[in-house]
Amino acid sequence: MCGIIGYAGETSAVPILLDGLEALEYRGYDSAGVAVVSPDGKLQFSKSKGRLKVLREHLANQEPLVGNIGIGHTRWATHGEPNDVNSHPHIGNKNKIAVVHNGIIENYMEIRAYLEKKGVEFVSETDTEVIAQLIEYYYFKDYDLLGSVYKTLHRLRGAYAIGVLCADYPGRMIAARKDAPLLIGYGDKCNFIASDVTALLKHTRTVSYMNDDEVAVITPYKITFFDGDRGVIEKEKTEVEWDVSSAEKGGYAHFMLKEIMEQPEAVRKTISPRIKDNRIFFEELAGKEELLKGINKIYMIACGSAYHVGMVGKYIIEKLARIPVEAALASEFRYASPLVDEHTLIIVISQSGETLDSMAALREAKRLGARVLSIVNVIGSSIARESDEVIYTMAGPEIAVATTKAYNTQLIILTMFGYYLADLIGAVSKEEYDEFLSELGKLPEQMQKLLDSADVCQQAASKYFNRNSVFFIGRNLDYALCLEGSLKLKEISYIHSESYAAGELKHGTISLIEPGTLVVAMTTYAPLLEKTVSNIVEVQSRGAEVISVVSESDKDKMNTSYENTFVVPDSHPFLKPNLSVIPLQLFAYYVALNRGCDIDKPRNLAKSVTVE
Ligand code: AGP
Ligand code: GLU
Repeated sequence: MCGIIGYAGETSAVPILLDGLEALEYRGYDSAGVAVVSPDGKLQFSKSKGRLKVLREHLANQEPLVGNIGIGHTRWATHGEPNDVNSHPHIGNKNKIAVVHNGIIENYMEIRAYLEKKGVEFVSETDTEVIAQLIEYYYFKDYDLLGSVYKTLHRLRGAYAIGVLCADYPGRMIAARKDAPLLIGYGDKCNFIASDVTALLKHTRTVSYMNDDEVAVITPYKITFFDGDRGVIEKEKTEVEWDVSSAEKGGYAHFMLKEIMEQPEAVRKTISPRIKDNRIFFEELAGKEELLKGINKIYMIACGSAYHVGMVGKYIIEKLARIPVEAALASEFRYASPLVDEHTLIIVISQSGETLDSMAALREAKRLGARVLSIVNVIGSSIARESDEVIYTMAGPEIAVATTKAYNTQLIILTMFGYYLADLIGAVSKEEYDEFLSELGKLPEQMQKLLDSADVCQQAASKYFNRNSVFFIGRNLDYALCLEGSLKLKEISYIHSESYAAGELKHGTISLIEPGTLVVAMTTYAPLLEKTVSNIVEVQSRGAEVISVVSESDKDKMNTSYENTFVVPDSHPFLKPNLSVIPLQLFAYYVALNRGCDIDKPRNLAKSVTVE
């Protein structure tokens, strides 16, 4: 979720807002905008799709926005593709209220329907617009601005950090948050709001971090904090020690580590809008049920880590829906004369939504008459736009070249889709379905527990970072995970590594195993645990050193040392990959750290490969 900046002071707000938004650019965004209230009570704004320079051009070509109080936003679209109208700030119909918002309003459709019945006209496709319209709707009932904000917040479901302006109050703005970061900055005859401290460091290091359900009223000279019931509260002030660069990474040394740590939140944000009345529900697939029932083959098409997601998805969806599923490399699919017809479902998986190989494969599949569903992180990206249906992951901007949270959110969407499809065609029992849902709800917390014990991976990395060849072995779902573990290690630490089906090793490659060879053995797929343990013994008897990744309840079956055993929480077999990938990500990260590699921008790599 992206960037918010707000300023209340004695000088023109726009330059300060633009400066703050510039400091937030690193987070990745697709559009930007600002709004101010002039001293004579006029709400003015400018917003546009694209980079900040586009916004600057718009501002240069229009009447200057006059006002010493304003809000600014860099958007990472989740609802409504990137365009000028969907950009923030969103303005109430009567030009009285302006709002910027980070987060997702899950019940925006019902609020929108309620307001449309009251005659409110919406102009955008976003969830955010309901906040501006609802505050304004309440405001015109009793002209109690703070009360209107509270009434609105009590109706919202989802995550929000918001900045609010009202034309009738040129000297004050309101801020509020729930499940999205927001802080208040204390300046000299001026005060600030921001989604992240980076936007403020030029002006102040004295901040207060808002907590969920808190509201703040900010003027140039005074800040009043309120709790969820509108009771006045005191907030402590904190001095920020960070420099700009570490602030951009939220205090983490690298974006990759920050994004590894963001996985529980990213997965929660991806799951929650798709659970309604304790059922998996894809709004994006509404009305397509009959089409999906007619599918007799699925291709998962992608590149790199996204392809590895497809490999995991293949095992899961085949097991659930009993439909043939093929995971295909996009660069191979398009030249392989694939067997595709109108009963084939193509699932294109892509974080960026711009990978040329995947886009070309999508077009080839459509040419052959297939239906295309894409799973994408960037709203409105090319692959999303050319798909028949698109399901968006809610991972937020992923800056590090090596994907982590996008991989995890793609995986969870695929697994949920597997259950959705299996349920649609009657291939899964109610008990199985309900058991999965119950385990699904625990996943973010289990991921957090795993992340809290990252030190085991860190210690192992400090032991093995100088190896020049590593093998990842596993069976079934574990083998699909090996593909991702091996790529993570290769792409950021430059160590050669290979993933191998554990049962296949003895058919040749085991000749490479010699004393000191490092082997990472994935053993979290319980039905084949014993088999993989035999493969561990095979390589150990040839001198290999083994790190194992094992489920909590199976750890006593492992013959690897404590420091070489990464234990993951017990969970549903089809949710294990979301957990087991985390130690692999952390191991790769800490190995690369020990080797002094450029972790966020590895050599030769790009975040989005838009060439063939
Ligand atoms: C992942 O760590 C790599 N950076 C790369 O393999 C990536 O997954 C691949 O290029 C596909 O990118 P996409 O998901 O944006 O299509
Ligand atoms: N959900 C809002 C939108 O799509 C806010 C997205 C963000 O956090 O940037 O406009």
